[in-house]
Amino acid sequence: MGNISERDKKHIWHPLTQHKIHDTMLAIKKAKGCILTDEDGKEYIDGISSWYTSVYGHCNDYIIEKVYAQMQQLDQVVFSGFTHEPAVQLSEKLMEILPDNQQKIFFSDNGSTSTEIGIKMAIQYHFNQGNKRNVLLAFDDAFHGDTFGAMSVSDLSVYNGSFEEFFITVERVAPPTKENIAHTLEQLEKRLIHNDIAGFIYEPLIQGAAAMQMHDVDGLGEILKLLKKYDVITIADEVMTGFGKTGKYFASDYLTEKPNIICMSKALTAGMVPMGATSCTQKIYDAFYSTDIAKGLFHGHTYTANPLACASAIAGIELLQSDEMQQSMKRVIASHQQFNEEVKVHPKVARTRQTGTIFALDLNIKMERYGNLRDQLLKHFMDSGVFLRPLGATIYISAPYVITDEQLQKIYSSIKAILAKI
Ligand SMILES: Cc1ncc(COP(=O)(O)O)c(C=O)c1O
Repeated sequence: MGNISERDKKHIWHPLTQHKIHDTMLAIKKAKGCILTDEDGKEYIDGISSWYTSVYGHCNDYIIEKVYAQMQQLDQVVFSGFTHEPAVQLSEKLMEILPDNQQKIFFSDNGSTSTEIGIKMAIQYHFNQGNKRNVLLAFDDAFHGDTFGAMSVSDLSVYNGSFEEFFITVERVAPPTKENIAHTLEQLEKRLIHNDIAGFIYEPLIQGAAAMQMHDVDGLGEILKLLKKYDVITIADEVMTGFGKTGKYFASDYLTEKPNIICMSKALTAGMVPMGATSCTQKIYDAFYSTDIAKGLFHGHTYTANPLACASAIAGIELLQSDEMQQSMKRVIASHQQFNEEVKVHPKVARTRQTGTIFALDLNIKMERYGNLRDQLLKHFMDSGVFLRPLGATIYISAPYVITDEQLQKIYSSIKAILAKI
């Protein structure tokens, strides 16, 4: 193991890591396109776009060029009292691809802050109108980030354990299926008549951290329609699903019922620099628009609308809109469909599913989320030069849209090899 990995051990505390069990981190020295190269020169295909960020490929030349140009012009400035061209341009660019009902953009730093802001918008929307609504709704097994509001609405105890008694009040809804939707709607309506639910936050169509659970589109639409009737603010957390992953710009594009608020991050800046953004409708914005200062949204982060992040996001959206990228995404989708036909009948496979560029497969064995068996899977993939990060017994692919056919085949072969081995 090379030098960086050894030096790392002295001062660094890694995310989502129990250091007593996992004491050595793999040092990645460079990345280009879909390839990560470690400090010993071994290459890995990035099958999960580095947590769904680098969808146009790592160190993309077009994005580098745009960010570099921005660096020479304006690096950072306070965004309260000031504005700048990249932020304005990004807001205009986002309007080109967001669902039509979205009107205003609030910038922040990452996915958790984007959902935290969405939650605050929903609560204060009611508060500003003299209504105290102090309950939030979220799906079973939801994941919305690691800050306190985001953790409260999340439902994965492996992350939440010791903090639960400090959480805001959240009630759960079962993710919609054809079988449960009638019952869910009936129960929900009984609950909604109390008028104390401020907002509903949901990962539309795919719950990523819940091992890529995929929803019934019509059922989700029915839930959103019912919530609207009771003025419950709907917050689509598109941190993972946004910017093409589902085959459309946003997962919300599959639904006729549009959310009041949309949270974005990850692929927003194409994996180049961190940024979060929360968009909302005019109706939400208007509830804060007042001569009373206290009715404003008093939330702000130092790096809000950082010009370099804005430049990266604008360049990313330009790539996403290009014919070339759209064709490439279609190619990836078709390739996964073909692979699905091959593996779905395999005796070691319990279930497969796909939405757009995201493909997931459940192995027919019980496995802890961060257990030994799962670590063996991870090791198998890394040894074969493929970076896939199984979620328990679920293997999923969310590769950069620019992945080559050959690289896709290498990922599939690595998955087939593990099916033969277990
Ligand atoms: C749906 C969703 N929301 C929020 C987050 C949190 O984003 P971040 O890790 O940037 O805080 C994630 C991260 O995986 C996510 O998948």
